[in-house]
Amino acid sequence: MKIRPRRLRRTPGIRNMVRETTISTNDLVYPIFIKHGKGLKDPIPSLPGQFHFSVDMAIKEAEEAMDLGIPAIFLFGLPASKDAAGSSSYDENEVVQQTISLIKKKLPDMTVMTDVCLCEYTDHGHCGIIKNGQVDNDSTLEVIAKTALSHAKAGADFVGPSDMMDGRISAIRDILDNNQYQDVGIIAYAVKYASAFYGPFREAADSTPQFGDRSGYQMDPANALEALKEAIMDIDEGADIIMIKPALPYLDIIRLVREECLLPMAAYHVSGEYAMIKAAEEKGWVDGSRIMMESLTSIKRAGANLIITYFAKDAAKILQNNTK
Ligand code: PBG
Repeated sequence: MKIRPRRLRRTPGIRNMVRETTISTNDLVYPIFIKHGKGLKDPIPSLPGQFHFSVDMAIKEAEEAMDLGIPAIFLFGLPASKDAAGSSSYDENEVVQQTISLIKKKLPDMTVMTDVCLCEYTDHGHCGIIKNGQVDNDSTLEVIAKTALSHAKAGADFVGPSDMMDGRISAIRDILDNNQYQDVGIIAYAVKYASAFYGPFREAADSTPQFGDRSGYQMDPANALEALKEAIMDIDEGADIIMIKPALPYLDIIRLVREECLLPMAAYHVSGEYAMIKAAEEKGWVDGSRIMMESLTSIKRAGANLIITYFAKDAAKILQNNTK
């Protein structure tokens, strides 16, 4: 036998040398949920190990993330009030806007990304304004754009529209540019499927639709060509980073989009993916840490540059220990 692949697997040193995919803390983006109050760090039942933070505690959490080498956080907010039009989403006194400006004051080097969507802010839980029983695209764009602007004013580095309305990247780019925020970037949830994997998040963000589902605006999980169409549209409209979501069940889509598009690409390893690993680990059925690292490695190997994950801190701890 002339060719023996096992020669390259013989020792840890050799394996490290020929490894094709590595994860660094620089690849990780950490999602944080913020609510009203003071001194709060309340466990989220559907996401073990994740918390609802009040603004003051969110800053501490961001500091911890920074100390672990995580370069970016992704903010979600639970507002004081909800209405049909999601108008608290652009309130400068809301928790997301407050957290952005405080983090930028206290941790200027932390990259702050924000989720721009109405589902946490509407009383009906849909991602836009309802007209005739449907989410109305064009009137939603105005509110989405205003929300993005309010995040930019507070100091966000990137805004992340996750609503899946058509034309939202243009609408946001225009309002940012017209208000001298041309340096604020857009991380577009370009390819977002109507997925059951968001279940635990909706409990965490209190954003479950009160009627119907999101399949009138989020993508059909069966479609791949449409993913390319969405990615290309968002790039044409001015997105700086494109995102695929969820991650593990859509590795083929990550690879497909990676091969066709030139932008940095993020994958969102979503709440259901996280919760399933946590649940199986709690039962003692799997080695949670190894499954976590294997999952993150697969997402990177498929072609993602950035991974938005609730595991960010856990993974960063393992990565820090590896390099010591
Ligand atoms: C808001 C939004 C959702 C997620 C991110 N932004 C929920 C949804 O679309 O229903 C899901 C994130 C996760 O599951 O971790 N629209």
